[in-house]
Amino acid sequence: MTGAVLLAAATGVALVLAFLLLLYIVSPLTSPKPLSLSGAHVVVTGGSSGIGKSVAIECFKQGAFITLIARNESRLLEAKREIEKFSVNDKQVVHSISVDVSKDCANVERVLKQAQEKLGPVDMLINCAGTSANGKFEELDISRFEQLMAINYLGSVYPTRAVVTTMKERRMGRIVFVSSQAGQVGLFGYSAYSATKFALRGLAEALQMEVKPYNIYITVAYPPDTDTPGYTEENETKTLEAKLISEASAVCKPDHVARTIVKDAILGKFSSSVGTDGHMLAVLTSGMSPISSIAEVLEAVICMGFFRFMSLYYIASFDNIIRRCMVKKEKSEKMD
Ligand SMILES: NC(=O)c1ccc[n+]([C@@H]2O[C@H](COP(=O)([O-])OP(=O)(O)OC[C@H]3O[C@@H](n4cnc5c(N)ncnc54)[C@H](OP(=O)(O)O)[C@@H]3O)[C@@H](O)[C@H]2O)c1
Repeated sequence: MTGAVLLAAATGVALVLAFLLLLYIVSPLTSPKPLSLSGAHVVVTGGSSGIGKSVAIECFKQGAFITLIARNESRLLEAKREIEKFSVNDKQVVHSISVDVSKDCANVERVLKQAQEKLGPVDMLINCAGTSANGKFEELDISRFEQLMAINYLGSVYPTRAVVTTMKERRMGRIVFVSSQAGQVGLFGYSAYSATKFALRGLAEALQMEVKPYNIYITVAYPPDTDTPGYTEENETKTLEAKLISEASAVCKPDHVARTIVKDAILGKFSSSVGTDGHMLAVLTSGMSPISSIAEVLEAVICMGFFRFMSLYYIASFDNIIRRCMVKKEKSEKMD
């Protein structure tokens, strides 16, 4: 009996020591000092609309100088005027650039060099320019696959290339890639879109490993459905299956999503998610991604199995929706 008690006590002590050793090993892997946005130069691609515009407003409210990037000049000008209303001091500037981030890397680098000459080196780059398409794999025009990869993926690579060297020289910086929950889980109709958003995760993980010694931190944001002009446009051509699946979660406000993205980027968190579903997906897809905090790792270790179990419910109900839609469609085709 005494032997068994001693063994249990020794096991307990060994577990505590192993845990403390783990904390010691992972502590250099965790996040940096928060970045102050007061006086910082923040570049927001896709900053003339939706989530990007809200992100720019949030940064401006915290005292940042903003460079807004998008293609349509009148929408850029309108957004610039709207953002300027939120200034917290009279030195703040919103500079706007009309450029297509998906084309001509050299040109994107050139315009961002000009922006840095105006407002100083970039402290934070938020790659938010993006677009979506929903449709069955074989029905989506093949050009949509190419276009989405160009805008959503290369449109994040080019601006990042334009700022990363200076960030490395200054040994500081934040880079945000705006992915999507569709970049964590592939859903019906998103074969073209999801692939581009998953690609950002791979890019971010590899880049984070390269730039971490230079005190540069990467954040991948995974917004849920968010009420933006882009979302409204996507809904116009959404398949019935995708509409029914997305009914499983609520539509968020862009200001709320933007606040989370900016907060997580300031803290240097690798993964940024919104809401309970977002949190569950972040844990489920954490894989071997960079560590932002010990609490986050422990939560993943403890909750992963349970969340995987819960995911079975979602997968089954999505499969069920798709099967019902197929049966209904086949019935109506037979009747015609
Ligand atoms: N809304 C959602 O439900 C949701 C959910 C998850 C992830 N996201 C992601 O969040 C990001 C923003 O989405 P949103 O819904 O806010 O979109 P949005 O309202 O359509 O705004 C998109 C912005 O990107 C710009 N843009 C698009 N293509 C561009 C290009 N080639 N070069 C430069 N700028 C370009 C647009 O301006 P111009 O057209 O004038 O260029 C606009 O400023 C996207 O990456 C999207 O995939 C959105």
